[in-house]
Amino acid sequence: MRTYLVTGGAGFIGSNYIHYMFKKYDNEIRIINVDVLTYAGNLENLKDVENRDNYTFIRADICDRDAINKIFEENDIDRVVHFAAESHVDRSIVNPEVFVQTNVLGTATMLNAAKKAWELPDGTFKEGKKFLHVSTDEVYGSLDDDPNAFFYETTPYSPHSPYSASKASSDMLVKAYMDTYKFPANITNCSNNYGPYQFPEKLIPLIINNALASKDLPVYGDGKNVRDWLYVEDHAKAIDMVQEKGRLFETYNVGGHNEKQNIEIVKTIIDILREELDDSDPRKEHLTYDLIKYVADRKGHDRRYAIAPDKIKAEIGWEPETMFKEGIRKTIHWYFENEAWMKNVTSGDYEKYYEKMYSNK
Ligand code: NAD
Ligand code: DAU
Repeated sequence: MRTYLVTGGAGFIGSNYIHYMFKKYDNEIRIINVDVLTYAGNLENLKDVENRDNYTFIRADICDRDAINKIFEENDIDRVVHFAAESHVDRSIVNPEVFVQTNVLGTATMLNAAKKAWELPDGTFKEGKKFLHVSTDEVYGSLDDDPNAFFYETTPYSPHSPYSASKASSDMLVKAYMDTYKFPANITNCSNNYGPYQFPEKLIPLIINNALASKDLPVYGDGKNVRDWLYVEDHAKAIDMVQEKGRLFETYNVGGHNEKQNIEIVKTIIDILREELDDSDPRKEHLTYDLIKYVADRKGHDRRYAIAPDKIKAEIGWEPETMFKEGIRKTIHWYFENEAWMKNVTSGDYEKYYEKMYSNK
């Protein structure tokens, strides 16, 4: 039975990936989820898999060399899927250091531990072992409004935020391991994900949460920044397909071909929520475009991201399957049905973060 070591599996994409993998492979695989459970990690996301015999959760920091080495010593790990990271751009602008710590040093720890466990005396690697580093399109910088301009795997790196700089650094480390040691790895650079279990500091769940609470809907700058949205389950599938069918040492860009201006996203959420709410629900009366509040722009705000997923389609046959119209409805429905989840993650520390982050906007 193949054993996967998933880092950051209690976060948004990691937990969706674990669900996807058990749905696809059921008892044919074993998954070990290593997560330190920061504010963004939530074991409630994995409630329905926690009792499986082929699932193990280990609370550990990816920067803790001894803890990570121990996991490799005690388990014959076949695949690493490395999600664990600090992932929020706004937080990186306020506190960059933890991004360097987790995203750069943590990735170095993971690479070293896997190399140590998998390397043979002659410097080659045990058959079938693979490391997949999950990264972002933000490493490529920002595109202008030319609709024919896209990020490709060959686009030079030009990160702007501390978050994207830390992810770019971690990508470079993985590339260095591949070039220097022929370490068996792949990198995927993905566009903005959306779907269930996303922490409500990110645009889509934040807007849904605020809209349901009749709070202002903060839109940075002129609201015309563009992101390329991908339904999270499509991303999970892409990661699996890259490990199954991708060429080792290659980078694959993963994108939704779903470019939207932020303001369009916010208005779509209002429209769909109005359809979902009963006429008798008192929240419906407040839920109009009047809630939209243009606020101070994010520092260094990248204008547009857009991925051309040509390589992954041509080599691996992956394509985004969930159209935005369908995905955003499913997502809104999920948050609507899971208000208790939202309440749990937004109480306590998050409330303090929100007050501080948005008080001067
Ligand atoms: P997330 O913030 O929801 O989850 C991150 C997870 O990592 C959490 O469970 C957290 O507890 C864990 N973690 C953080 N620091 C850790 C540490 N030191 N040791 C162990 N665990 C730690 O993030 P996400 O949105 O699910 O993103 C996952 C990965 O995908 C990240 O590497 C991110 O850069 C990348 N990515 C995200 C998106 C997106 O749209 N969300 C798009 C492209 C790439
Ligand atoms: O492109 C991939 C990246 O997408 C991932 O690497 C990151 O981990 C992930 O967080 C995401 O980064 P963004 O900065 O694009 O996502 P965020 O949801 O924070 O913001 C999306 C857009 O919405 C961005 O242009 C900023 C804007 N925004 C965001 C928030 C939180 C607002 O206008 N108002 C807000 O309150």
